[in-house]
Amino acid sequence: MANTQIDWKALRKDFPVLDQQVNGRTLIYFDNGATTQKPRAVLDALRNYYEHDNANVHRGIHELSNRATAGFEGARTRAAKFINAHSADEMIFTRGTTEGINLVAYSWGSKNIKAGDTIVLTEMEHHSNIVPWQLLAERTGAKLAFLPIKDDRGQLDLNDLDKFLTNGVKLLAMTHISNSLGTVNPVAEFCARARKRGITTLIDGAQSAGHRVVDVQEIGCDFFAFSGHKMSGPTGIGVLYGRQEILEGMPPFQGGGEMILNVEYQKSTWKPAPHRFEAGTPDISGAIGLHAAMDYLDGIGRPKIAEHDQELGAYAFAKLSGLKNIRLFGPNVGRAGLVSFLLNGVHAHDVTELANQRGIALRGGHHCNQPLMRKLGVESTSRASFYLYNTTDEIDRLVEVLKEIQKFFGN
Ligand SMILES: Cc1ncc(COP(=O)(O)O)c(C=O)c1O
Repeated sequence: MANTQIDWKALRKDFPVLDQQVNGRTLIYFDNGATTQKPRAVLDALRNYYEHDNANVHRGIHELSNRATAGFEGARTRAAKFINAHSADEMIFTRGTTEGINLVAYSWGSKNIKAGDTIVLTEMEHHSNIVPWQLLAERTGAKLAFLPIKDDRGQLDLNDLDKFLTNGVKLLAMTHISNSLGTVNPVAEFCARARKRGITTLIDGAQSAGHRVVDVQEIGCDFFAFSGHKMSGPTGIGVLYGRQEILEGMPPFQGGGEMILNVEYQKSTWKPAPHRFEAGTPDISGAIGLHAAMDYLDGIGRPKIAEHDQELGAYAFAKLSGLKNIRLFGPNVGRAGLVSFLLNGVHAHDVTELANQRGIALRGGHHCNQPLMRKLGVESTSRASFYLYNTTDEIDRLVEVLKEIQKFFGN
């Protein structure tokens, strides 16, 4: 491999869960698009928090509460640095990408979207970036429009965007990296064109935040949502970035403790962002674990992780292209670290099951992309999605296993 500075295989040792046999074979974990494994640094941070500092945040004036609050708010500041936001006040802790998008759809949407307005999405969106907008459209009478992909290569055309961004368009919401196709969208260019027309932009960063350098100022988006568990952090924690100016004008998403300034029996007033959007006790340990994950990733270097991802994606695509009777999805070049495919005559679930019998964790299904699957004319695909602890040797093993599966099915 071209990238010689890092011994990627050695990083496996940082991830205790990878040190196991599955069905008599060393585990090969290729389901990182769904969730990633956690390094010891994250597990230690969670344990340390619960063993030494556990208390509720922003409430008690006692030592443990002060420590928990410092840890929680420290994670917010770290997250702002991680994606180069102007300020920690632009970072709202959520349960993950899905909740971040729902927050925007409810709060920003209820104030800014009205009957007849259009929300532009793309044909490759995850259900998380479709269904919240459908619910908003049902509530308001707005319409949804979908930027098309042309074929199995799964790429969008910037020129189409200009045709779509007509007068009634209020929002462009799109994914940075497709979880099914591996397409990496040039989101900065999309956002620039939308911004020129005064259209608000949201980027779904679920598959990108832990895989490459993300700079929200460079992207120029208004919102950016991501999940901790897809970037070696804990489940249950994510971040919604929102440009401060926009957040200030948005009403609360949920009501409860932590988000108020003053409550009377008949009415209440709200804190400024981001706390206005964080009702109730937050996932304190999750934020602290996410902080450790961000430090871990930056300790390796996100540019190097991105390079490794791309090498694995290109390697897998090339190797799988060499098989007979296979249909591959996503771009030929410039793809992210995942590959989706179908073996002719073999159901994606059978591929997953037979790979599992040989110790390989794949995913088979619609990947929360049902409309995209229909567009491609398939029900499901098999997906191998990679992360920093994966290697080309593991991909070679996958290819061997796929050949065995083809033989088993007489292909
Ligand atoms: C592109 C994309 N968007 C959104 C999501 C939803 O993420 P979460 O389930 O962490 O909210 C996923 C998860 O697979 C995804 O791949």
